[in-house]
Amino acid sequence: MTPPRPSPRALFIVLEGIDGSGTTTQLELLAGHLRARGRQVLPTREPSGGPIGKLLRGILLGQHDTVGARPVDGRVMALLFAADRRDHLAREIEPALAAGDDVVSDRYVLSSLAYQAVEADRPWVERLADGIRTPDLTILLDVPIAVAADRRQRAGRPTERYDADGTQERVRENYRRLASEPARWGKVTTLDASGTVQEVHAAIAVEIDRLMDREGPIS
Ligand code: TYD
Repeated sequence: MTPPRPSPRALFIVLEGIDGSGTTTQLELLAGHLRARGRQVLPTREPSGGPIGKLLRGILLGQHDTVGARPVDGRVMALLFAADRRDHLAREIEPALAAGDDVVSDRYVLSSLAYQAVEADRPWVERLADGIRTPDLTILLDVPIAVAADRRQRAGRPTERYDADGTQERVRENYRRLASEPARWGKVTTLDASGTVQEVHAAIAVEIDRLMDREGPIS
């Protein structure tokens, strides 16, 4: 009798990029690619669907701003994103990985290091992430500011807290710097995301197939 095939290790894969880089569109296609290879997948995102994530979405849209009052402080944003991430890990990501499912997330810790470093001290933002799970692979979808802004406009997306071109420029620089640093937050691969949806998906699929071939089945 042939022994049962050992199941592969569950993978944690993250898509990152500036607003309008295509992470949300590409996440669904990536999940489909993994499923087509016979894997169980949990697609997810940050801010998460949990209580802190919901609060964050309201703040991002300016729903809590009142005339004459200051916007929510950048350090408070960093604390909320860090708290949402731990909530997301504890209630969604870790249980799915433990059950053997791959987890693909639209944004994770690099978002905090790229965005909150614009409005708070980066070493402090990094400390908030101490000890959290490192992704198996983070794919950075890199795209020029103007291309991303045009995509957001065409999609009719409401204006959010970090949408100003100057902010997006700094966030993009932060991402590119993070991708070139030693892999403290796991392996980061940068892809040119200015092509069509299918072109970018094909480039992501190549990286994912490479990752799966490297992993192989657990013996
Ligand atoms: P986005 O991912 O574009 O979602 P939606 O499609 O709902 O607008 O928006 C999330 C915003 O939150 C985006 O501007 C990036 C920002 N963000 C941070 O600043 N820090 C973080 O840690 C995360 C996860 C997101």
